[in-house]
Amino acid sequence: MHLLFFVCVCLNFLTYIFTSPITYEDVRGTPYKVSYDNRAITINDVRTMLIAGAIHYPRSTPGMWPYIMKMAKNQGLNTVQTYVFWNIHEQRPGVLDFSGRANLSQFLQDAADAGLFVNLRIGPYVCAEWANGGLPAWLNQVPNISFRSHNQAWEAAMRKFVMSIVEYVNPYLAKNGGPIILAQIENEYNGDDQAYVDWCGSLVTNELSSTDIPWIMCNGRAANSTIETCNSCNCLDDGWIDHHRHDYPDKPMLFTENEGWFQPWGQAVAIRTTADVAYSVAEWFAGGGSYHAYYMWHGGNNYGNTAASGITTMYADDVLLHADGTPNEPKYTQLSRLQHLIADHAEVLLRNYSTRTPLPWWDGTKWSNGTQQFVYSYPPALHFVCNQADKTLGVLFHNQNISMTSQSVRIFDDNLNLLWDSANVSGIPSDNTEIFPVVIGPLDWQTWSEPVISNLPVVTSPNPIEQLKITNDETIYLWYRRNITLTQTQSHTIVQVETRRANALLFFLDGDYLGEFDNHDHDQGSLTATVALDLSTYKPNQQYTFEILSISLGLNNGVSENNFEHKGIVGNVWINDQLLANDEANLWEHQKGLVGEFLQIYTEQGSSRVEWNPQWTKGINKQITWFQARFNLDHLVREDLNANPVLLDARGLNRGHAFINGNDLGLYWLIQGICQDKAPCCCQQAQINCLEPTQRYYHIPSDWLMPKNNLITIFDDLGAPSPGSVGLVQRVIIA
Ligand SMILES: *[C@@H]1O[C@H](CO)[C@@H](O)[C@H](O)[C@H]1NC(C)=O
Ligand SMILES: *[C@@H]1O[C@H](CO)[C@@H](O)[C@H](O)[C@H]1NC(C)=O
Ligand SMILES: *[C@@H]1O[C@H](CO)[C@@H](O)[C@H](O)[C@H]1NC(C)=O
Ligand SMILES: *[C@@H]1O[C@H](CO)[C@@H](O)[C@H](O)[C@H]1NC(C)=O
Ligand SMILES: *[C@@H]1O[C@H](CO)[C@@H](O)[C@H](O)[C@H]1NC(C)=O
Ligand SMILES: *[C@@H]1O[C@H](CO)[C@@H](O)[C@H](O)[C@H]1NC(C)=O
Ligand SMILES: *[C@@H]1O[C@H](CO)[C@@H](O)[C@H](O)[C@H]1NC(C)=O
Ligand SMILES: *[C@@H]1O[C@H](CO)[C@@H](O)[C@H](O)[C@H]1NC(C)=O
Repeated sequence: MHLLFFVCVCLNFLTYIFTSPITYEDVRGTPYKVSYDNRAITINDVRTMLIAGAIHYPRSTPGMWPYIMKMAKNQGLNTVQTYVFWNIHEQRPGVLDFSGRANLSQFLQDAADAGLFVNLRIGPYVCAEWANGGLPAWLNQVPNISFRSHNQAWEAAMRKFVMSIVEYVNPYLAKNGGPIILAQIENEYNGDDQAYVDWCGSLVTNELSSTDIPWIMCNGRAANSTIETCNSCNCLDDGWIDHHRHDYPDKPMLFTENEGWFQPWGQAVAIRTTADVAYSVAEWFAGGGSYHAYYMWHGGNNYGNTAASGITTMYADDVLLHADGTPNEPKYTQLSRLQHLIADHAEVLLRNYSTRTPLPWWDGTKWSNGTQQFVYSYPPALHFVCNQADKTLGVLFHNQNISMTSQSVRIFDDNLNLLWDSANVSGIPSDNTEIFPVVIGPLDWQTWSEPVISNLPVVTSPNPIEQLKITNDETIYLWYRRNITLTQTQSHTIVQVETRRANALLFFLDGDYLGEFDNHDHDQGSLTATVALDLSTYKPNQQYTFEILSISLGLNNGVSENNFEHKGIVGNVWINDQLLANDEANLWEHQKGLVGEFLQIYTEQGSSRVEWNPQWTKGINKQITWFQARFNLDHLVREDLNANPVLLDARGLNRGHAFINGNDLGLYWLIQGICQDKAPCCCQQAQINCLEPTQRYYHIPSDWLMPKNNLITIFDDLGAPSPGSVGLVQRVIIA
């Protein structure tokens, strides 16, 4: 024991003397100093190249974190970046929760154990395609609050949360030998409230200065005491590098989000090519960047109700590690090679900035001078030859005609040996995984219908009440219920509801399902839902119970000043010309959540609280219906469920939530993914799986599974056409 310890200390000591400290391993356990100069973040006064990736702790589970950290380290990261998610830590005002997926200190410890630094982006507004951008829904009810702007209510709430997080992570700060070297206040603030920016700055300068680490503000306005950083697809090509060197010559260049983008429901799966990511990362380090973070490195999954409006349960699946935790090849290996090259040459790269030297290109008849071909040289080792042009051409460098693919970077040593080519991924296998069935349907299901009328408590009011005011987003379901006497009953009755984007509404009359409306925009705002319902079998002048089940399809992540996210019914309801409002004799009842949720029938304890029907085929195609079954993992192909994840194959279902041993896998939806004529957005170049479901497989974290007797529960709101097809598969790494 003691001898081993002694050897380790010696090795650490040697590393520390002869190389710049590039990993947390070189400093762990003892207080160290973090600062910055014009070129880089410095650790104990030594410039340090930070190769980072975003991994959001609640988008995976404690049982996955050590695996993900180990993969990150092996792939060539030395820094992990995460936001802090206010709405999972403070679901109810004043009650802080750091358990389970919210166990931030465990996550920080896992990063430290893997030898990774941490950049903690506290926000507390985080955007992140996360419900409400991380803000607790109950903040809507704070008197006089206006988010992210200079007002007492917001600043007091923000300050209180930020201070409590800083206190909580104190043992993990660099000054205490922990991995946290950088922190972030606010997030992509692009408003025009300078007083608020200054307030953020004064918070950093005054109350947060005892953290003794640099603070950043990203992609927007930055307070003087913080470093402004880039979020983009390519921070060189979009001019950010030039503007930063001009505007902030004393501050280093940090790329907080190299975007992997995200996936909306109803669209085909969008991808960013490996060549484009590789080009942008290489150009960044060429141009003088000293911190680069993939957003995401592992996107993970939006379990429970954490996805933002219209966003799929898998998050940023096409980044370096897939949502299910398997490496995304050839991206994973191609970028790993670059990262190791950059790390190996960090000392030379960080000595100084290099200047962009234009190179001639062969225009077909002569060598032509332009601005899109250039080299950044870092003698005595690395030369980054870059071609920004949209075509492949020859570039003259050191009297050699170098063939450059469109938008690519080639890295050479002094002898013009090619060390890496952003455009060349040949030789990296991309079909590195295969899917094997491990539990084949039909499972031994039982079914239970969610009651339409229940004795759960209700709130009554003459007019419908906005959903979040009642639910605080603790459930995505709210029943609106009212007695009506229909004036007319037609086969084509138009029902109109003033509702919100990313919201579904299911309509019932006396317990009979009549139809639904849904909008799954990745957006917010009000709209009028218009549906035609067949009421011809009902009688006029007779009283019925009219019900609307409102289902939130996510709170939008864009939150700004004087802008509140709302859900459910936000105005009037009409049945043809009949306005269902302000009738003291017919009040609206509001029931928060489902009976099945209230009884937690998806848990071991709650399952027996209702009478399940073993004739499960009776539940086929029936709205608001639960299914439950048990399964064993007898046929796993591999034992390690982090490296070889188990997924729910949701084929045969429609829309709803699936639970494994009481854990909510997130929204599943077999909605078809439509391909657009051109790449859907931003950093994305293509779409795949046109007309297939946007997401068919849903990740089950390793720590939610047991070898035997797992409880699977499904709640399908639209009605599952073929629950017998549901099964489990394992994705196995074969390469
Ligand atoms: C967080 O994880 C640590 C280590 O597993 C554990 O000791 C601690 O109790 C957890 N915190 C909470 C609040 O569950
Ligand atoms: C909210 O603003 C109103 C009008 O400015 C003020 O009268 C009231 O005291 C404020 N409420 C709180 C809780 O600050
Ligand atoms: C920030 O710096 C600018 C330029 O030096 C200065 O004009 C401004 O007053 C500073 N703001 C604060 C809040 O110190
Ligand atoms: C750094 O590079 C600049 C030109 O980019 C040069 O003017 C300066 O002398 C260099 N500094 C050192 C210390 O080499
Ligand atoms: C390109 O630039 C070089 C160096 O400035 C110059 O000698 C050469 O004449 C230029 N060539 C053309 C085609 O403009
Ligand atoms: C330079 O290489 C390109 C192909 O990479 C070729 O098309 C071009 O003819 C070459 N030019 C010269 C002068 O050799
Ligand atoms: C790409 O790399 C492979 C080696 O991995 C090499 O054989 C091949 O020539 C390269 N292709 C190009 C176009 O440079
Ligand atoms: C509808 O009317 C019945 C009596 O006719 C009453 O018992 C029930 O509570 C009413 N429902 C609602 C939602 O007001």
